[in-house]
Amino acid sequence: MKFNYPPGSTPLETGELAGLLPKHITTQEELNAWEEKNIIEAEPWAFKQKDILSTLFIKKLHKRMFDKTWEWAGEFRTSEKNIGAYWAQVPMLLQVLCDDVRYQLERDAYSNDEIAVRFHHRLVSIHPFSNGNGRHARLMADVLIVQQGGSRFTWGMYQDLTKTTSVRKQYIQALQVADKGDYSKLLLFARS
Ligand SMILES: Nc1ncnc2c1ncn2[C@@H]1O[C@H](COP(=O)(O)OP(=O)(O)OP(=O)(O)O)[C@@H](O)[C@H]1O
Ligand SMILES: [Mg+2]
Repeated sequence: MKFNYPPGSTPLETGELAGLLPKHITTQEELNAWEEKNIIEAEPWAFKQKDILSTLFIKKLHKRMFDKTWEWAGEFRTSEKNIGAYWAQVPMLLQVLCDDVRYQLERDAYSNDEIAVRFHHRLVSIHPFSNGNGRHARLMADVLIVQQGGSRFTWGMYQDLTKTTSVRKQYIQALQVADKGDYSKLLLFARS
């Protein structure tokens, strides 16, 4: 199978590819459709969960989203990628992130939208998994904002995650600006 990686994605290694569960899949389009179905099945479950600010829930959600697709669904990566923290620090960084967000919510440190969008950005920056980090971290932020009484984010009505569309470019650019500490673009994008 030939993969096209759009900018701002993390290519899979041979070992990770070997963990592909549906053996009949031969094209990227088939894989995308398969993943999408898997993710959609996870969503109703995700929105019913209570304590989402924990490393346990972060793993469980990834597992639910990709359990029919990747053998390593729900498992943290054990190698370095072009994006993300040193792999061995992932559990510690996620623990800090969860504690931090809980405190931000308690103290109304930012608007609820901004707390959720900052959470999204830090989650993809840590990049806990080998793949699916963008989709997982968008759903995490969606579940958080809905639990806070807000409506789900629209993420630029971001449908096709695989292609180098202008919406994807806008999203990656907004993340890059957020890397420098400016969340304004990402906040707008999440509601566009
Ligand atoms: N400069 C950056 N700073 C923070 N996060 C980034 C940056 N560039 C890319 N990302 C995140 O990394 C994600 C890609 O990682 P990965 O391939 O693991 O996730 P994915 O869900 O498979 O991606 P996608 O569905 O967006 O292609 C992007 O969707 C984005 O959220
Ligand atoms: Mg990917």
